[in-house]
Amino acid sequence: MLRITSLELAKKHLPFLLDLWHIPEVMRYADEFPGLRGWTKKDGPLTAWTKYCEKRAAFGKAYTQFILQLPDGKPVGESFFAPLPEGYKFGKWKKPPETLCLMGDIKLLRPYWGRGLGTEAIKQVVGWLFMNTFCSLLLVPPHRKNPAAERVYEKADFELVSETKLRRGHRLMSLSRERYQLDTLD
Ligand SMILES: CC(C)(COP(=O)(O)OP(=O)(O)OC[C@H]1O[C@@H](n2cnc3c(N)ncnc32)[C@H](O)[C@@H]1OP(=O)(O)O)[C@@H](O)C(=O)NCCC(=O)NCCS
Repeated sequence: MLRITSLELAKKHLPFLLDLWHIPEVMRYADEFPGLRGWTKKDGPLTAWTKYCEKRAAFGKAYTQFILQLPDGKPVGESFFAPLPEGYKFGKWKKPPETLCLMGDIKLLRPYWGRGLGTEAIKQVVGWLFMNTFCSLLLVPPHRKNPAAERVYEKADFELVSETKLRRGHRLMSLSRERYQLDTLD
């Protein structure tokens, strides 16, 4: 039985999500991705929902906010992925033109760290994204002082992007559709 499930954001989840982004230990090395997302924790739940729906209508499933919940329905985390714009750069890495690349991350409430739940959830999110979008590449930016995040992405088969240096302390990791498909064949 799954110990954690990822589901698409519903309006009722917004208070949980906005509260999560106010917890300093969760956000210490993590980001809200305000640029890609188009809204932030400063927006109230209603504005956030309206903006989310607008972006979702524009980008479809390539722009998805997931809520991570326990089997009893308790929300304990989130994951968000959205398309990188044309011309996007991360250090020396440049988004390949005309290719759908999604960037995002995962966050859990502190009491749920260290039990394998982050790995289980990001694997579900990755599988969902490759199944439900035409993306070629997924990207995540773990901070160099956040080895748990880097390890979780590594366990989900992301690899460090070699051509790039740190950007404001963050490394870039990627997982291509090809690599994902090869790994799922194993
Ligand atoms: C990142 C996060 C989602 C990880 O979730 P999690 O459920 O604790 O992760 P898991 O238990 O599945 O795996 C953690 C791995 O990191 C390893 N790890 C934890 N702390 C570590 C440290 N200080 N040094 C090295 N490895 C570490 C664990 O040993 C484990 O690897 P293993 O299975 O090979 O032993 C969680 O820590 C979190 O929500 N952090 C705050 C938000 C955040 O920073 N998100 C990432 C943004 S890029």
